[in-house]
Amino acid sequence: MKLDLEFVRKQFNQLHDNPEFVFCSNAGGSYVANPVNGLMNHYNAHTRVQPYQRYASSNQAGEAMERAIKGWAEVLNISADELTIGPSTSMNTYVMAQAIGADLGAADEIVVTNQDHEANRGVWRRKAEEKGAKICEWKVDLEHGLLDLEQLDSLVNEKTKWVFFAHCSNVVGTSNPVSEITQRVKQNSNAKVFVDAVAQAPHHICDLKGLGVDGYAFSLYKVYGPHQSLMYINREIVSSLTPQCHYFNTGHDSKLFNPAGPQHAQVASCAGVLDYFDALHRHHFNDTPHAPQKMTPQRMAPQRMTQLHSLISAHETELAAPILDFLGNNDKVRLIGKNHTRDNDRVPTIAFQPLKQSALAVSTKIQDMGIGCESGHFYAHRLLTDLGIDADDGVVRVSLVHYNSIEEVEKILMALDRAINH
Ligand SMILES: Cc1ncc(COP(=O)(O)O)c(C=O)c1O
Repeated sequence: MKLDLEFVRKQFNQLHDNPEFVFCSNAGGSYVANPVNGLMNHYNAHTRVQPYQRYASSNQAGEAMERAIKGWAEVLNISADELTIGPSTSMNTYVMAQAIGADLGAADEIVVTNQDHEANRGVWRRKAEEKGAKICEWKVDLEHGLLDLEQLDSLVNEKTKWVFFAHCSNVVGTSNPVSEITQRVKQNSNAKVFVDAVAQAPHHICDLKGLGVDGYAFSLYKVYGPHQSLMYINREIVSSLTPQCHYFNTGHDSKLFNPAGPQHAQVASCAGVLDYFDALHRHHFNDTPHAPQKMTPQRMAPQRMTQLHSLISAHETELAAPILDFLGNNDKVRLIGKNHTRDNDRVPTIAFQPLKQSALAVSTKIQDMGIGCESGHFYAHRLLTDLGIDADDGVVRVSLVHYNSIEEVEKILMALDRAINH
């Protein structure tokens, strides 16, 4: 069975605003699925009151938020009180740096990578420096930007408190084997593991208990949803962290790492992403019709997500292959990361360094041809610098998701050819 792209594309109104335009900057923020906009509008139009009170509009507001929280907890296979919904992943990691940092001391060590977006690097580094803890850097190989598991073993020891890495880099595009890395860390130490999954989640929503991580965060505005970030913190480690909420909220695990109040309408609309996945699943697998009442929690269980992933990954691999092939065999560019996808180990986020002209010159030409692709360092400033690239100019990045089509890829290839070769 193949992904029914016509059905998929009908769920995104923005794809139809200008049918000629090809959007391929999805790693910066994806289009929003229609059910998300529906829920957001409904919340603002009808239930814009303080939620969780007994009067009707307030009760509905609270139910709409709970539906999103419980729905996401279910699909991630975690408990609802292990989920923090914050305004962005950068804010969530910043808050966690305060929660983790309170317990760090001069005898401790942390591991960060130079592959990560600054959101999963700078905050931890700054906190470790402040507390006098040692920072160990897990470095990528300088040719492809990949992390080598063997090297991690030498960085982790009994002093290591935390290991921070990305499920997938937003520039290199390779998915790191999270459960294997986590197992290795835990074999060699008592360290905890925090994973930035912002570049992975648009392509694959994971069963987090299955991965065995202690912390995991991603941004829903890149997963067809509102500008919110979901963060999991394993309940078993919560007592070792310093709460960052108001003192009277410390009895609620879901509030511990959220210093502010939740953004009500945005939180409620997070359920729209699951409604979209639910519709996609029902369309392809013809399963039990969704209950008609809007406020019923979806049953977007991890197993249904896995079935959807088989369709999504196959389509994304097909989209990426000709672009990887073109860039991997062109001596006027340097492709970052692997030139192929094997067993879903690469997402269709494809970055390259033009060797004969600036990245900005190439991305400008491509944009002028009606293709929405961008250049820059994408906040992976350290990675680009270490790869010998001028981070201020950066790389050109083509980032696709499952709603992109083969026809769009053909247009992208034509534009790449003209911008790079002519
Ligand atoms: C890999 C990665 N991590 C973290 C972030 C930061 O996410 P947010 O914009 O939600 O702070 C981004 C954003 O581009 C990202 O690509």
